[in-house]
Amino acid sequence: MARDQVVIFNFRCLCQVIFILSSFSFILFLYWHQFSGSCYSINQIMVQNQNQEIDLLTFPSAWNHLSFSSESDPRPNKLLKIAVFVKKWAQRSRAGGLERHALTLHLALAKRGHELHIFTTAQPNSSFPRYPMSNLNFHLSKPTAAGYLEQAVVWKQFQTQNSTGKPFDVIHTESVGLLHTRARNLSNLAVSWHGIAYETIHSDIIQELLRSPDESQAYVLNERAMKVVEEVKFFPYYSHHVATSDHAGDVLKRIYMIPEERVHVILNGVDEEVFKPDAAKGKDFKQKFGIPGSKSLILGMAGRLVKDKGHPLIFEALKQMLEENAKFRESVIVLVAGDGPWGARYRDLGPNVLVLGPLEPAQLASFYNAIDIFVNPTLRAQGLDHTLLEAMLTRKPLMATRLASITGSVIVGEEIGYTFPPTVHSLKKALYRVWNDGREALEKKGKVARQRGLQLFTATNMAAAYERLFLCISSNGNRKDVYCKYHYPFN
Ligand SMILES: *[C@@H]1O[C@H](CO)[C@@H](O)[C@H](O)[C@H]1NC(C)=O
Ligand SMILES: *[C@@H]1O[C@H](CO)[C@@H](O)[C@H](O)[C@H]1NC(C)=O
Ligand SMILES: *[C@@H]1O[C@H](CO)[C@@H](O)[C@H](O)[C@H]1NC(C)=O
Repeated sequence: MARDQVVIFNFRCLCQVIFILSSFSFILFLYWHQFSGSCYSINQIMVQNQNQEIDLLTFPSAWNHLSFSSESDPRPNKLLKIAVFVKKWAQRSRAGGLERHALTLHLALAKRGHELHIFTTAQPNSSFPRYPMSNLNFHLSKPTAAGYLEQAVVWKQFQTQNSTGKPFDVIHTESVGLLHTRARNLSNLAVSWHGIAYETIHSDIIQELLRSPDESQAYVLNERAMKVVEEVKFFPYYSHHVATSDHAGDVLKRIYMIPEERVHVILNGVDEEVFKPDAAKGKDFKQKFGIPGSKSLILGMAGRLVKDKGHPLIFEALKQMLEENAKFRESVIVLVAGDGPWGARYRDLGPNVLVLGPLEPAQLASFYNAIDIFVNPTLRAQGLDHTLLEAMLTRKPLMATRLASITGSVIVGEEIGYTFPPTVHSLKKALYRVWNDGREALEKKGKVARQRGLQLFTATNMAAAYERLFLCISSNGNRKDVYCKYHYPFN
């Protein structure tokens, strides 16, 4: 009954899936391109019998590419008791990437019926958010002076819960929430990394190149290399590692030398119910902020307005362009959401730049709908940027710095957007290209971006992948476990 199937996925051109049916076994080619203008390499060739299953723990690419079909299985047949260690629980609009990831993922897992125990710090002077779910429990403790979890305290809280009712099936730590001294040798533990020292070296190099002659040289570069060595030494104490970008997954296996069956790539996801196309919302937003309909290009930026996020660079690029090109000045408007020291400076650029202040998620969703392209000049190479994913799900094309996590997992080709090296000159060139390409071309890229977003970057997809990983490792690393196997849903 087995038929030969040749399945070709081209992740660059997306959705271009060719099935050729004939006799016997089936061959799956997975290949993709690194965005650099030219084709890259055939990354994987897997030859398998159609009826064969794959070993999930050694699956080399992002689990987001797999379908754990939560529609046909709305409730997992095994509910887990999950311990989560996270330094800080996200509150309101100012949360960083790690916190937003922790919030999105663990709320989704609680909604799936799992019993969650979150060990986190109490925030002075802010009321802790309440959730109407009895299976979501918080265990708060006072942070250390440096803001970390007090290890002895949280471990005691953990032990109490572990001996109450049933013991924990799985432990998840967001970064070093639980230190390796406590985490070591726990086979049912996974750590998610949202930035490792090796990635940061790229940011350090950029910062050093951008340093003005009157600033003293930063010594972080030398220190960073030693930090990498330290990480290479202690990372192996954690049993399972989740990389939030394809690039980080590669680094963990290659540079950090963690065995491949302990490194799993699960890309970040964002709430697809909040971030979705809605033209009416976009229109209302433009009206509210008095954006004239005569503008033919609306650029959008969001996040903390600090140096690390590349604001000095894009500030200079925009300043020069608004000065040198009257047509650009007439037709372009830039919306800046978020706050930070660069907010006030942007106001000096005049009426072409609107500084909106920090926005709540619902407002942010309207903001994405109001713009033509989302621009992120970040210089921080760590983790996988959430704003890019939110814009993609809102059907917007992207323009971002050429950093490995971004080119490897997000802007994987020109059909999704634009990337540039972090210099004023390159940034100007890219902005002029966007402007020349115009709204229609951007809309086309936006559609491709949304397709890729729906395929890879939804919160549902991310939570399903983590759930499967947790189910798999809760059997204490028994790789024969049914949850550690995957069948391709082709037939
Ligand atoms: C917390 O609030 C109290 C009084 O409301 C105030 O005196 C204190 O400075 C605040 N602490 C912080 C860290 O904001
Ligand atoms: C949690 O409790 C179980 C059952 O008593 C025990 O086997 C396990 O070692 C405990 N986990 C930790 C990390 O102490
Ligand atoms: C962890 O396991 C290694 C060997 O697998 C052992 O040498 C070490 O003592 C263990 N550490 C702890 C804290 O149990």
